[in-house]
Amino acid sequence: MVLLDHLTASASLPNGIVVRENAIEEEITALRDDLLRIRIARKGPLPEDASWAVLDDARHSSVAVTPETAEGHVGFRTRLLHVEIDRSTMALTIRDLNGNALQQDARPTRFEGGAFRLYKAFSHEEHFFGLGDKTGPLDRINQSFTLWNTDSYRFQESTDPLYKSIPFFMSYRAGRAIGVLLDNTWRSSFDFGKELPGVYSFGAVDGPVDYYVLYGPSPKQVVESYAWLTGKPPLPPLWTLGFQQSRYSYYPQSRVLEIADHLRADHIPADAIYLDIDYQEKNRPFTIDRERFPDFAGMIAKLKAEDFHVVAITDLHIAMLPGENYAPYDSGTAGDHFVKNPDGSIYTGRVWPGPSVFPDFVRAQTRTWWGTLYRDFYGMGVAGFWNDMNEPSVFDTVSRTIPENVIHRIDEPGFTRRTATHAEIHNVLGMENSRATFDGLKALNPNLRPFVLTRATYAGGQRYAATWTGDNSSSWNHLRMTTPMLENLGLSGFAFSGADVGGFAGTPTPELLTKWLEVAAFQPVDRDHSEKGTGDQEPWIGGPEQESIRRRFIEERYHLLPYLYTLAEETSRTGLPMVRPLFLEFPDAVPDRHPIDVDPEASSEFLLGRNLLIAPPHYPDELDHYAVEFPSPDWYDYWTGKKVPKPQEQSVANSPLPASATDRAPLFLQVHPELASLPVYVRAGSILPIAPVVQSVHETPRGPLTLRIYAGSACEGELYLDDGNSYAFQHGAYLRMKFTCEAAEEGFHLHVAAHEGSYAAWWKEIRAEVYGWTPRRNEISVNGRTKPLVAEGSSAATVFIVPDDVRGFDVELR
Ligand code: GLC
Repeated sequence: MVLLDHLTASASLPNGIVVRENAIEEEITALRDDLLRIRIARKGPLPEDASWAVLDDARHSSVAVTPETAEGHVGFRTRLLHVEIDRSTMALTIRDLNGNALQQDARPTRFEGGAFRLYKAFSHEEHFFGLGDKTGPLDRINQSFTLWNTDSYRFQESTDPLYKSIPFFMSYRAGRAIGVLLDNTWRSSFDFGKELPGVYSFGAVDGPVDYYVLYGPSPKQVVESYAWLTGKPPLPPLWTLGFQQSRYSYYPQSRVLEIADHLRADHIPADAIYLDIDYQEKNRPFTIDRERFPDFAGMIAKLKAEDFHVVAITDLHIAMLPGENYAPYDSGTAGDHFVKNPDGSIYTGRVWPGPSVFPDFVRAQTRTWWGTLYRDFYGMGVAGFWNDMNEPSVFDTVSRTIPENVIHRIDEPGFTRRTATHAEIHNVLGMENSRATFDGLKALNPNLRPFVLTRATYAGGQRYAATWTGDNSSSWNHLRMTTPMLENLGLSGFAFSGADVGGFAGTPTPELLTKWLEVAAFQPVDRDHSEKGTGDQEPWIGGPEQESIRRRFIEERYHLLPYLYTLAEETSRTGLPMVRPLFLEFPDAVPDRHPIDVDPEASSEFLLGRNLLIAPPHYPDELDHYAVEFPSPDWYDYWTGKKVPKPQEQSVANSPLPASATDRAPLFLQVHPELASLPVYVRAGSILPIAPVVQSVHETPRGPLTLRIYAGSACEGELYLDDGNSYAFQHGAYLRMKFTCEAAEEGFHLHVAAHEGSYAAWWKEIRAEVYGWTPRRNEISVNGRTKPLVAEGSSAATVFIVPDDVRGFDVELR
């Protein structure tokens, strides 16, 4: 250790540096050249190196660094970053190799008892994203947020805190992004310039100062690094991408079957039906109300025969029923699995079943026990499970949750065995609940991919469960809020997410339900759900006209399933979300490289993957024309296949383009909102795989695989397929196909690469629809054999059908 002016000591580490100023010790290490971990101890040694969020392998990674000292600072350099600690103030600055400050302390870290707060400077060009599905605009600037998992029934636009705690955000300025993960499970808070202009800050009421800085520079790299750090969502079962019908609650048994029959009779494609709490006896988890469901197993079997998957709710609270032969309580008590009061007695709180006890999910053995509770239901064929109320919600305490002094017992590989108060564990309990379910289902059937839906969670929870945004309302504003909520969830690791379609609280008007079903058809989890006591909101409610619009959109989702599933598979490899804000794909959309999504014109738009842009009206009940702003110059209309006209080709007869359109000059289009349609566009250069409609994913599509090819530069597409359920894909039983195209005046070339993997396609032929290119000689040659091209079908496309040769093939059109 070297003695310094104000810093009392500093020492280089092979992978970083440690500095000291009196009792404060700060350690900065490089896990990778683009990823730093910063830990600060106020007194004594650094706290235990353990984490619920960060993967062990990532946490224990390190790269060698080069020490760098100068007159004013000590520090080091990686291959991508400079780290400087000011000798007199201990202020930390992280720079890229060009010297741009990426993160800079604005004032000293504040310590107050157990609490701490870090302050970082930002410039007026900075934007902030992440923190999961917090409400409000996509950009978190000028707002502050608390992370404390809370049952927020009927949350509104400014409600905070909400159900989840994902202490990860991205700061983004002029094309340069960094991510910050504060790995602290206690009640924490984040402020983006609301308290202090030009300063963002984050801190927690207690626990370790332990945070990670993830350097992009592209926002996509930050999201991928976050997945490296905290894990990727697993590949979901294919059926979970189908349409899902839920309500609180469908009962009795005959009503569940009636809903299923109605969906099939009306030819509304659907894959899942949900059982909410009323299937249980007196709301007791893992029981069945035999009066309402006299033949539960028979019902599941019947639904299965109709190709429906059943998802059943299983809340984490266990009814406190000593001596009543309630197995979850008896076995949980015998195994000592419930959380305790400081005096050692079992903690009880009132929830749906009345007085209840709560499993201590931070104990590995408790999670294993919890997993065994699923044996009967899984055995009967219930396909997925829904972990709700896991903030946890408690009805009879002032805080509406478990009191902070209740005791948990951490007993977990990688952690010191110790007790911890609920104040420390609260924010991770929901995630550990969903982990117990996921791992339990996997143990019960190791070859089946589990589906778990959780309400509460923490950073890293994407490894175990999909999520939804909780108890929203049936209003146009809530439909509008859904877009930034799902986008920020996606930037925070949660790719498989949705909002209650139609709204939970209240009854949607027929028009609202229609528009919501249209938009949700392009979101990862498409689940219609509603509260008890509200009007019906199945797709047929409101009359045949509304129903036929809704059916058309749900059918469109099923046409797009090959695209959706391919995207889901990409997500499982990269951590990139399915629903994406525009700047994630197009950080350079505008000359000054601000995120285009913050433009009022683009604020309601979102991308589904790289290729589809969905542009709902900004205020979904508005009547006027609105502008769609595109993040790049070449797009096609998804519905007609026609190219979006360039500004000079557009008629200016309608309302003028926004003033900003001319000075930034990306592509704009004026559209007129209509109930029966939703503006969707395809990026030029995309190849979309499309399937014939099926009523459920169980049905094999009949006919060719369609490739919709949208001529443009770097034209390519991909398709991924497997059995949709098992892990056989990990042993080669998958099908991956890659497509490329080139369109020139004299000819069009499509290359279909050989099938990769051993999974057999359901099609024999490929039907290609080429948009944005017209043949001159009406000739087609497949692998060099030329024939006349027979014109077919839609006017906007050149269409041809060719046998799919698994060894790959080339098509030339002239
Ligand atoms: C909670 C859930 C909701 C569910 C209800 C009854 O409010 O958020 O989705 O329907 O509990 O289980």
